[in-house]
Amino acid sequence: MTAQLINGKEVSQQRLAAVAQAVGQRTAAGLRTPCLAVVLVGDDPASAVYVRNKKTACQKSGIASLSYELPAEAAQDQLLKLVDELNANPEVDGILVQLPLPKHIDSQAVLERILPHKDVDGFHPYNVGRLAVKMPLMRPCTPKGVMTLLESYRINPKGKKAVIVGASNIVGRPQALELLLARATVTVCHSATENLADEVAQADILVVGVGIPNFVKGEWVKPGAVVIDVGINRLEDGSLCGDVEFDVAKERAAMITPVPGGVGPMTIATLLENTLHAAQLHD
Ligand code: GUN
Repeated sequence: MTAQLINGKEVSQQRLAAVAQAVGQRTAAGLRTPCLAVVLVGDDPASAVYVRNKKTACQKSGIASLSYELPAEAAQDQLLKLVDELNANPEVDGILVQLPLPKHIDSQAVLERILPHKDVDGFHPYNVGRLAVKMPLMRPCTPKGVMTLLESYRINPKGKKAVIVGASNIVGRPQALELLLARATVTVCHSATENLADEVAQADILVVGVGIPNFVKGEWVKPGAVVIDVGINRLEDGSLCGDVEFDVAKERAAMITPVPGGVGPMTIATLLENTLHAAQLHD
């Protein structure tokens, strides 16, 4: 049987509409318009597209955005100084520094410089730690967006076996904490995992974020599983594909996210939810 598609585009539009409504209510009540500052360093074309999409989504939901572009050779101190200014700026609710940063910059030092309550990416160790101790504040956008998708499709992770492939700071690790919070039994696989296919075959809920096209083979997927593909890879012919071998996986899974139109739009919608949340904290 062919899997039901999980439509992230549709769910993200609903969430953006809800953010727009909440922003409208805030401003009608005399509160400030939430404001997101987006910082892009260098000229990575994919990052430029992501940043543009984030700014467009801000416009659609009535959130103000400020944009800062630094050249690829900008010094780390210059970036830290900008973060300090944005931290101190009372008009700014959320700060996002687009990753990856150029190699000469210590990304962790930059992420740790952002005030935790303005950290709409949820990457500051304070926010990661709060998620780990079941007291989430700002939650990383992609894993939180995945949880929203599951909830929208009435998939309750409680008691289910969740397998995550990829242990990055942006996706795999915080995804494990989110699924643990939702009371799943969680396994995290990474490049040292032995017998990956056997681990994947156990998954009631499978989340994959490794950035390698078709890395997880469709035949590994447990029949009836829910498959969430976080990967977005551009192939030589210009087309996009995920980290899961979609055509085979969709014949085994009960539900699966397409690429594009699955997790990607949810990351952006969640960023705007986090910005609204940051503004509420700021009030
Ligand atoms: N690069 C890839 N994903 C992300 C993200 O969620 N936030 C930021 N800041 N950079 C990214």
